[in-house]
Amino acid sequence: MEILDHISLKPYNSFGIEAAARYFTSVTSVTELEEALDWAGKAKVPSLVIGGGSNILLKENYNGLVIKNELRGYEVLETDEDFIYVKVCAGEIWHRFVLHCLEHQYAGVENLALIPGCVGASPMQNIGAYGVEIREVFHALTAVHRYEGYTKTFTNEDCAFGYRESVFKHVYKDQFVITDVTYRLRKKPVFHIEYGAIRQELERQHVTELSIQAIARAVIHIRSSKLPDPAVIGNAGSFFKNPSVDPAKYESLKKAFPDLVAYENENGTMKLAAGWLIEHAGLKGYRSGDAGVHEKQALVLVNYGKATGSEILSVCNLVIDTVFKKYGVELHPEVNIL
Ligand code: FAD
Ligand code: EPU
Repeated sequence: MEILDHISLKPYNSFGIEAAARYFTSVTSVTELEEALDWAGKAKVPSLVIGGGSNILLKENYNGLVIKNELRGYEVLETDEDFIYVKVCAGEIWHRFVLHCLEHQYAGVENLALIPGCVGASPMQNIGAYGVEIREVFHALTAVHRYEGYTKTFTNEDCAFGYRESVFKHVYKDQFVITDVTYRLRKKPVFHIEYGAIRQELERQHVTELSIQAIARAVIHIRSSKLPDPAVIGNAGSFFKNPSVDPAKYESLKKAFPDLVAYENENGTMKLAAGWLIEHAGLKGYRSGDAGVHEKQALVLVNYGKATGSEILSVCNLVIDTVFKKYGVELHPEVNIL
């Protein structure tokens, strides 16, 4: 394990923000990870574990040790009549794992194709798209305690998954580093095509027989047409979560804004499409210097080139204030601001 000094994090964050790490290392084994955590403990500096850096906003230089997780490998742990349990190391690229599942006919992650980033962040964020969330295929994970060094297994229940939420963002925030995740995949697929755009795309592609490959193709097509490619324009996907409001608030908003887009949650509250709120507050395509709101998807903040983290944060605050003034609804960032 080599500890480097003053390393630019620009290649390690999908926003393409120029910020530096005081110390930086890459780890390819759990032993190296433990050594890195130990090093940070002895040097009395904080540590930050990153995968693909596709859900972080660096608002300043990181004055500690950045640990790039490069733990790689897959292992089939067991199979039964219905399921196959695959353990995946946290540094594997998520979409590569999806492709592996498609190739081996393991069902369950096809709707989550093309989400950037690594396996380790998938339970942390409870990643989701097109009607599916990771919790539906999650079986267990292994994590190392950052400061005490012990290893702990977390079951689905232990993770307390919610909408882009897990225990790792709250009770155990900054406590554990995820080293591997075991997914429970189906041998016989259960298709999820209820998310409107998928159905339309399957029709457009003249798909007559559903398959996990056809769904993945449809999802990839929709995503590529809507979401900016970080290799071209820096971004971290949806910057904000879609906010939920109680039915009374929803009714009053719907009266004032009849085209408002919303979905009913299981508990009866209404989830509003934040992209719609931002667009109809006039901010879609807003730009200040190199920081802005994407012109095709208002939920995505973008870096056109040389924006700093604090410039992106200023746009974030402008969006929050404008949306609150217009609708009385508070937006909360989904992206981890560091
Ligand atoms: P990073 O950005 O590296 O890290 C995110 C957070 O997790 C940080 O706080 C980090 O410290 C922590 N972390 C990372 N690895 C570990 C680990 N091993 N142990 C403990 N903590 C860890 N997300 C969705 O849910 N659905 C989408 O449809 C979606 N679309 C996107 C589209 C684009 C174009 C982009 C850029 C992003 C999108 N995202 C989406 C967000 C992002 O891809 C996911 O949140 C992804 O899981 C982040 O993975 P990462 O490895 O890049 O995490
Ligand atoms: N909309 C607008 N204007 C916009 C953007 C969206 O009116 O500028 C409307 C759309 O027309 C649609 C609705 O808002 O009626 C929802 O839009 P979309 O289907 O694009 O989904 P989203 O709510 O913007 C969420 C996730 C995405 C995920 C997609 C697909 C969140 C915060 N975002 O986006 O996840 O890929 O659904 O399931 O839940 C991410 O988390 O980073 C992410 C990209």
